[in-house]
Amino acid sequence: MADRNGLYIQLFSIHGLIRGTSPELGRDADTGGQVKYVLELARSLAEQPEVEQVDLVTRLIDDRVLSHSYHEATEPLSDKARIVRIRCGGRRYIRKELLWPHLEEFTDRMLKFIKAEGRLPDIVHGHYADGGYVARELAATFGIPLLFTGHSMGRHKKNKLLAEGLSEEEMNRRYRIDYRIGVEEKVIKYADRIITSTRHEIDEQYRLYDNFTAGRYRIIPPGIDLEIFFPFGQRDRLAVAERKILAETRRTLLEELQRFWVNPHKPFILALCRPDRRKNISGLITAYGRDRELQALANLAIFAGIRKDIESMEENEREVLTEMLLLMDRYDLYGKLAIPKRHDFTLEVPELYRLCGDSRGVFVNPALVEPFGLTLIEAASCGVPIVATREGGPADIVANCDNGLLVDPTEPEAIGRACKTILADPELWEQFSANGVSGIPAHYSWRSHCEETLHQIARLKSSASPPLSFAHTRAVEPVGRRFSALRRLVVTDIDNTLVGDADALAGLLELLAKERQHLGWGVATGRCLKMALDALGEHGVPAPDFIVSSVGTEIYYGHATLADRGWQQHLSYRWKPDAIRAALAGLDFLSPQDEETQRPFKISYFMEDDPALLFRVHQTLHAKKLRYNLVYSHGQFLDILPFRGSKGKAIRYLSYKWGLPLGHIMVCGDSGNDDDMLRGEPLGVVVANHSGELDHLRGRRRVYFSPEPYAAGIMDGLTHYKLLDW
Ligand code: GLC
Ligand code: MG
Repeated sequence: MADRNGLYIQLFSIHGLIRGTSPELGRDADTGGQVKYVLELARSLAEQPEVEQVDLVTRLIDDRVLSHSYHEATEPLSDKARIVRIRCGGRRYIRKELLWPHLEEFTDRMLKFIKAEGRLPDIVHGHYADGGYVARELAATFGIPLLFTGHSMGRHKKNKLLAEGLSEEEMNRRYRIDYRIGVEEKVIKYADRIITSTRHEIDEQYRLYDNFTAGRYRIIPPGIDLEIFFPFGQRDRLAVAERKILAETRRTLLEELQRFWVNPHKPFILALCRPDRRKNISGLITAYGRDRELQALANLAIFAGIRKDIESMEENEREVLTEMLLLMDRYDLYGKLAIPKRHDFTLEVPELYRLCGDSRGVFVNPALVEPFGLTLIEAASCGVPIVATREGGPADIVANCDNGLLVDPTEPEAIGRACKTILADPELWEQFSANGVSGIPAHYSWRSHCEETLHQIARLKSSASPPLSFAHTRAVEPVGRRFSALRRLVVTDIDNTLVGDADALAGLLELLAKERQHLGWGVATGRCLKMALDALGEHGVPAPDFIVSSVGTEIYYGHATLADRGWQQHLSYRWKPDAIRAALAGLDFLSPQDEETQRPFKISYFMEDDPALLFRVHQTLHAKKLRYNLVYSHGQFLDILPFRGSKGKAIRYLSYKWGLPLGHIMVCGDSGNDDDMLRGEPLGVVVANHSGELDHLRGRRRVYFSPEPYAAGIMDGLTHYKLLDW
């Protein structure tokens, strides 16, 4: 990374198998469209002049049954783009539904990576809920803008599975669906831009979310490879050798089609899809079969995937193909309808579109719903006018390019009429063809995708707060010296963790004093600074190295309790305490806590333990589009903090600022407000007297449930993690 003036973009696509050369697309359910999308996106972004570096970050996999390529820490994609692999959740390849408990580890290792690189990204872009989770954590930690692309969304999937008769219990066991939806809700609310491929995706998928209206959406469709899908009239732009190959392809295709057609010189109507009932091939054949005029104008060719032995097909596919043959017979379409069988036509597809264009034909996609419409875009790019279902993404395509007609897929007459309109009007045909050829590169090339994305990024950057700076550290130089001598750190909650058992506390303090040279320690508490000092004083605890007070919203150092102003500045972004107080004033089930506990970055109430009430708090704040982090603990305390604030985030800030790896920091707590600092890379200790709010952390990596209560639990943790033997 030589010149540092350009944009540094990090993309997060965590699940599946990603590599630059011959990606194993289709190998499993997690390695398909999204992998292709992020690879093409990374490479294309890197081609833009204002971009200096693109990192596509994914999981590092060291699994004997897989290729070594997934084990390389970095892999170049182009001179400015590379894949970065981060280890988490062990070595083995696991399906995406099993990755959730490991994402904090991923995030923390990413912090380490960024620290080592010595440079913050200008923007982070999460893909799918898991990538969104990690990118959001980093965006909050560093104060950088967040882009999110969902690819597919949990609520939509949940509805589909419910319709298929799967129980909620089963889908949570199998897919962790509610957990995923919870993550998506948060990311939707937080992301600075949500990028979708179509309007349909917003209406059908994002609209299902509670936070839908908080989302900031931009429709930026992905691109296709224009080098492959070029117009039918432009074969001469190819080198002689390539032209020869295409001529050969064309001959085989024609031979195949001519076996079916009596008059092969007519224009033909082309359809290309998987043999799936929802693709509505029967609707198209019916339209053609019932319309004599249309049969006179054109032949029909249907390429419905790879047709193996019909007997051995899956039920859905078998039904579709059987129906196709029956309809062919019913309408007596012999000599007019081609249903080629042979093999996989993937390589021939672009030439097939061009063949259709040369014949002055049309491409039809009659699907009952088409989320995006890739084949329509490909065909249009080759100069073929389109007739497409009005349900889903195709509506965007026709709106953008004006290159065809939309139809109600459930009405065969409408499909037939639209085809005739285009086939019988040479001028209209020419116009649609030309509009597709010019419109596709403008709207569906990766280049136009990247230009629009960069435009959005530029707007975000100009309105964003400056990213996290580590200014104000000079004022606390003695602190800097102290921290640089430290090799390990203990951070503990005060109430019910540090204090509660006087004898154990005395023992712990003795130990900390003895190890003081290399072992630093601090507290992280819900109390404000004054109350924290009172509590420490009351129990005879000497000043710790630092105090993280007011649920992580304030950080102080040393005896002089110097405030970390960098942290305050970081939290102030998008923090509107007055608006929050005003919004919550109307909720009579909230009673404000003492004046003393109300802090610049913390608003606190008492609230009864009831999920319905919690939901109303969220709803109220959400309706006002306010940003916040909510922490509920001990079945009575409700804290509203800036969205960048929490005890866990404060500790990550300290780790980053002072260069102490999270894996060298032990954190101890007992209640819900300790929850987020206990997860991830730090060495977590939950004391035996903890409240039930933390039970869900059991079994997590690096969360140790000590059998000892209070300070004895902390000492036990020190032994457990062997922090005293270093
Ligand atoms: C402490 C604070 C209180 C906060 C609670 C939970 O008791 O004084 O304001 O709500 O911790 O974080
Ligand atoms: Mg506590």
